[in-house]
Amino acid sequence: MRLDRYLTLCDLGTRREVKELIASGRVSVAGLTVLNPGAAVDGPVTLDGESVDYRPLVAIMMNKPAGLLTATTDRRQGTVLDLLPPRDRRREPAPVGRLDKDTTGLLLITDDGQAAHALISPKSGVEKRYRALLDKPVDQSDVEAFAQGLRLSDFEALPARLEPGEGCVAYCTVHEGKFHQVKRMFAARGRKVLALHRERVGSLWLPDTLAPGEYAYLDMDTWNRLRGEAGLGPWKE
Ligand code: URA
Repeated sequence: MRLDRYLTLCDLGTRREVKELIASGRVSVAGLTVLNPGAAVDGPVTLDGESVDYRPLVAIMMNKPAGLLTATTDRRQGTVLDLLPPRDRRREPAPVGRLDKDTTGLLLITDDGQAAHALISPKSGVEKRYRALLDKPVDQSDVEAFAQGLRLSDFEALPARLEPGEGCVAYCTVHEGKFHQVKRMFAARGRKVLALHRERVGSLWLPDTLAPGEYAYLDMDTWNRLRGEAGLGPWKE
């Protein structure tokens, strides 16, 4: 593949912009500076000494910090997309489902719209596990009520797993993600959620190494595993 095409596929700019990068001597192939945009990519590519890799899709797991909206843009408030570098934003990825502004934890962001849709659909049954800090501890009657499915004002929540933690902490696993769902389920049992953190989506746990506001790129095997859990085949370009 030609170097200029490769760099555009790496989201480093338009064909004209990457030609300028090459002409300015900032790009190397296999350790040698290359000034010809038509040169073949026959070794590892670097820009300003940093390795450049071609990612066929954007699949990111973020530890969403409190205070940012789960949206692609907002005129007044910061969004989770603001944390991504321009090269990833250029692909127009979107958050998978929505965490409230004050909710923290695992948020997937992707330009794989098919997977995004399947991962949040209640039909696919992909689990989402939350850790909640409540104003009062839960008890066995709450565990049973969650397991039966709670009637909320406008819908009936599907059966969910509630596990009491230490003190006022509880863990709740749901298969759907309606607006304020977990907070409203606890409210239906007379508890107020003081802090909510998503720990897991499907088989993917948020690693402890990812601090609030940090994110990591998922590899294709992990992404295809999540796609499989959502009832989809492997990703195809
Ligand atoms: N349920 C909620 O109430 N809020 C979230 O952010 C996620 C699930």
